[in-house]
Amino acid sequence: MASPPQNFDTGIPSLNVLLAGGLPARQSIIVTGTPGSGKTVLCSQVAFAAAARGIPVVVATVTSEPHDKLMDALSGFSFHRPELLGDMMFLISAYSALKRGAKEARDLLLQTVRERGARLLFIDGLRSIRDLWQDEARLREFLYELGIGLAALNCIGLFTTEYPLPRLMELPEATTMDGIVGLSIQAQGSRRLRRVEVMKLRGRPHLLGEHVMRITTDGVDFLPRLEATLPDVEDAPLENERMGFGLPELDAMMYGGFPSNSTTLIAGSMGIGKTLMASYFALDGARRGERSLIVSFFDSPQRVIARARRVGLDMQPAFESGMLEVIQELPAEAEADILVRRILQHIEERGVKRVVLDGLAELELSIMESGRRRVFLAALALRLRQLGVTSVFTREVSKVVGAELDFNDAPVAILAENVLLLRFVELHGRLHRILSILKMRDSKYDNTLREFEVADTGLRVLAPVRSSQGLLTGQARPVGSTIGGSES
Ligand SMILES: Nc1ncnc2c1ncn2[C@@H]1O[C@H](COP(=O)(O)OP(=O)(O)OP(=O)(O)O)[C@@H](O)[C@H]1O
Ligand SMILES: [Mg+2]
Repeated sequence: MASPPQNFDTGIPSLNVLLAGGLPARQSIIVTGTPGSGKTVLCSQVAFAAAARGIPVVVATVTSEPHDKLMDALSGFSFHRPELLGDMMFLISAYSALKRGAKEARDLLLQTVRERGARLLFIDGLRSIRDLWQDEARLREFLYELGIGLAALNCIGLFTTEYPLPRLMELPEATTMDGIVGLSIQAQGSRRLRRVEVMKLRGRPHLLGEHVMRITTDGVDFLPRLEATLPDVEDAPLENERMGFGLPELDAMMYGGFPSNSTTLIAGSMGIGKTLMASYFALDGARRGERSLIVSFFDSPQRVIARARRVGLDMQPAFESGMLEVIQELPAEAEADILVRRILQHIEERGVKRVVLDGLAELELSIMESGRRRVFLAALALRLRQLGVTSVFTREVSKVVGAELDFNDAPVAILAENVLLLRFVELHGRLHRILSILKMRDSKYDNTLREFEVADTGLRVLAPVRSSQGLLTGQARPVGSTIGGSES
């Protein structure tokens, strides 16, 4: 064939993405998966969406169960439109024809498709046909000839069956079909994760691998993996423009701030002030008229604002003007794919220029496949740069010991272009807050260690730590003066 077949819109945009456009015209697709994985919902939704667009579809049942049982099960979904039944969505029972024989069933189905001028035939439950006939060769021939007949009528075949994907791949159903979609429910501790995988689609560069699937009252929805769907565009260029904190001493250490469009990690001990420092960054943007967003993986917007106010940082005016937004996302309730898609959508819709993701370790844990964490975060960082966003991630690091930070458990550390390290150091029986810039992409920076204070008047960076050795290890030994020049 010279050009690829036309696409049939599934009515589910994210499914069209997985299928590289939609269902290829005249092809037969099988959706397989264990009971309850969502096969019936998915295919019915595609059928209703077509009927709603005025495309006639035929839905065939293959068991002795009446149609109303199927429709009852679908009645809770918003795509269920009973008024389409009859005319646009024609229901037939193929059960008695199947009992008579393969030819009878095929003739009934193809004749109905022809009479209705249908562009889609949905048969729910091929496994029942297999069980009814107990005859592999007969089933294979039936599906093969049905596929040819449907193609001749310019009709798509959409079938479900009840096997886990690997099992289906060994059955003749797999070879007779042009496309195979597997749905599954995977166990992760006490959580159950829905997944979809397009295993085969003839003539299409469909997306490979597993993607997150959801079922809501709006039906089925997929989240194509971020790393598999990055647009093929350049990063927004690294600008000379600087994005600072509005903290003069700190900004001076960075010759004005981070380069715009860069990604920064603020890593440090628990309770040291990572969120507060990141809040300064967001608020400084808002004050300069750059739309800023704080995404908290722990706290509600009210708490984020209240905690900043307690140390003298008033975010309320920027919050009220809409220049600063604070949203809460709870990783306990959703997978990273879902959280990040919402965040990226928000950024795009609102034209956000600065974003703070507070508590990145939480997000990392919501990436269920641990081997995927690094590529997922790399894709996120890249996507943020593509969107022209300057981003700051905060992350707690438990082990801040030794001159080298132990970042083994922090995939983002490698991806962040700038790294700011905050830690407590004990000196003269008192804990001091110390900050240092570990790296800054393509930029000069001041690499001295600085003490900083968090008081009720805000965060203040002090003069360079002059003459203590071993501060980076967290076990400082005074050599001359006290650190930061502040007598304690
Ligand atoms: N409103 C809803 N919101 C979220 N999930 C729902 C909703 N309604 C149904 N579900 C989920 O969808 C599942 C049913 O999906 P469906 O009937 O399509 O599965 P199936 O793969 O066809 O199963 P079977 O092999 O048993 O026919 C239910 O088990 C439930 O988990
Ligand atoms: Mg079903």
